[in-house]
Amino acid sequence: MSRILSTLDPPDHTRQRKLAMGAFTPRRISHWREATEDIVNTNLDLLGSQEKPDLMDFAGAIPAQVLGKIFGIPLGRYNDIIDAIDRAFHSDAASSNAKKAFEDIAQYGRELIVEKRSAPGDDLLTTLIEARDGNDRLTEDELVALLAQMIMAGLDTTRNLIGSAVLSLLDNPGQRRLLAERPELAPQAVDEFLRLEGALTMGLFRFAKEDLEFGGASLPAGAPVIAALLSANRDPRRFEDPDRLDITRQGPRHVGLGHGLHNCIGAALAKLEAEIAIPSVLNRFPEMELAIPRDEITYSESYLLRALTELPVDLHGGTVHRRER
Ligand code: HEM
Repeated sequence: MSRILSTLDPPDHTRQRKLAMGAFTPRRISHWREATEDIVNTNLDLLGSQEKPDLMDFAGAIPAQVLGKIFGIPLGRYNDIIDAIDRAFHSDAASSNAKKAFEDIAQYGRELIVEKRSAPGDDLLTTLIEARDGNDRLTEDELVALLAQMIMAGLDTTRNLIGSAVLSLLDNPGQRRLLAERPELAPQAVDEFLRLEGALTMGLFRFAKEDLEFGGASLPAGAPVIAALLSANRDPRRFEDPDRLDITRQGPRHVGLGHGLHNCIGAALAKLEAEIAIPSVLNRFPEMELAIPRDEITYSESYLLRALTELPVDLHGGTVHRRER
């Protein structure tokens, strides 16, 4: 874990980021639109067939299946990894045995690499393996770390974004109607969800490089720094009426996908998945509402992720929730 992209400085960071970045440019990602639409539709059918539908199951399946296509290998055990991510970034890291959780994620990466080495193809994981085996541009540990981070960063973040966005729209019927009436607003709406309910609460592992003053605090060189992204995204000095969901909002830029050297490599992919999945689920089930009272909604105890523990929904409206009103 000490070798994941987020913790590296140049030149190692530059070399590794370049290897992965080619697969995530907006142009390359646009090729996955049709596959993503198919995956979303299949999972909407599945959601519709559940006796007790939990929208987080739908939200988790989308990034897992799309990433599986990009890597060229199905991520069959993605629910175990979502569970490991929950343990790895638990607010009480000592009791959750975070080290073991990180090891579980890395071990999954190793297993996928073994499988892929025996069945290479025209896919991202094969490209990374070739960078290791053919050109020696990655060490074995770096290969595992890069894959493990992409699995971690690509699965639960997108899952949480989709879940939180749907909850925001259930909370704001006017905005939900607006999105249904004006589907062309989807990219703007996703940007607003990333600002208001983005999946990463903070940036990862920063240290002051030199003594500095910031926001009235003195930071000695080497001090650990937490950049609270979601707080910044609701800064009233930057955003007008920051706690309000406004899917027509245009700027200013937020930091829900990070900023600068370490910004999100998967930004175009996360946006594509969210732009398709969020409107589709609300269009397929226009009467959908919460299946539990609003105040029973809970979030994981994670210092890193804004993650709903579950999002039980009544796809056709009008049961528990209505009775309790
Ligand atoms: C809603 C979905 C997503 C959100 C909110 C998100 C957010 C972020 C943020 C805030 C950062 C910067 C962290 C920091 O500065 O320390 C980041 C970095 C990163 N993200 Fe994402 N991300 C998402 C989806 C993805 C996807 C789909 C992938 C690709 C598989 C991905 C891969 C990465 C990687 C590899 C980095 C590290 C980049 C570097 O250090 O150079 N993310 N992400």
